Amino acid sequence: MNSNDYILVTKELTKSFGGLVAVNRVSISVRKNSITMLMGPNGAGKTTFVNVCTGVYRPDSGKVFFDGRDITGLPPHEIYKLGFVRTFQIPIPFQSLTVLENVLAAMNSVGENPLIAVVKRRWVRVEEDMIEKAFKIMDTVGLSRFWDLPAYKLGAAQLKMLEVARALAVGAKLIALDEPIGGVDPAYANRILTYVRDLKERFDVTFLLIEHRIDIALPYVDYVYVMDRGSVVVEGTPNEVVKNPKVIEIYIGE
Ligand SMILES: Nc1ncnc2c1ncn2[C@@H]1O[C@H](COP(=O)(O)OP(=O)(O)OP(=O)(O)O)[C@@H](O)[C@H]1O
Ligand SMILES: [Mg+2]
Repeated sequence: MNSNDYILVTKELTKSFGGLVAVNRVSISVRKNSITMLMGPNGAGKTTFVNVCTGVYRPDSGKVFFDGRDITGLPPHEIYKLGFVRTFQIPIPFQSLTVLENVLAAMNSVGENPLIAVVKRRWVRVEEDMIEKAFKIMDTVGLSRFWDLPAYKLGAAQLKMLEVARALAVGAKLIALDEPIGGVDPAYANRILTYVRDLKERFDVTFLLIEHRIDIALPYVDYVYVMDRGSVVVEGTPNEVVKNPKVIEIYIGE
């Protein structure tokens, strides 16, 4: 295995809260330009794992490598600047700005207050290639035809896609989506996952997808890690994972 093939690698990552080992020696490798899913029942440690990777918590032990670089213990904003972004980490869309303005604002937000970036945009000529890139992103997530609508007019699923679009506009190389289809009905959930897959195909980006609704998400993903009570218990392709007796036990046991 060539380490250049992986955007994120963790080695024996561990994080405890008091006596509870929420993440227990978790080692995973996320292949570049994949959709890699982290699944497992409530309380398995999925969100804590992402929080440790993105600097929200410092690990008790273990290492995190992002794009070949040791990022263990770096603060969240530095990890964000390197291109590892959790969607809810990006400032929420400006409700009164249009979809296009929100995407353009995100493009300018790295390293400065996004509000200042927006204000500046009103004075500085917006480069043609930025608009082109913004439309390429918006096309892929079905937002182009709403480009001049203010964000507050979007529906819930469209707002989620605007969030992902903005992560991409920020220059993210790895986007962690924590339950993007949570609380969304199956038709919308499939649409959101289709957009995510299209983004992966059109852009040089990787997704770490946290989900427990495996029935809907599995067909869209390339590789799966299953966590249970802090540990990775199974890994493999979607086909391998659904046939694994441990996975069946965890999900029937729920
Ligand atoms: N800040 C915290 N302080 C104390 N305990 C925590 C904290 N954050 C998480 N935990 C505990 O760590 C364990 C793992 O929680 P985590 O939220 O990572 O699970 P999860 O797999 O994301 O679950 P869900 O599917 O419900 O989102 C749980 O037992 C939880 O109660
Ligand atoms: Mg969670």
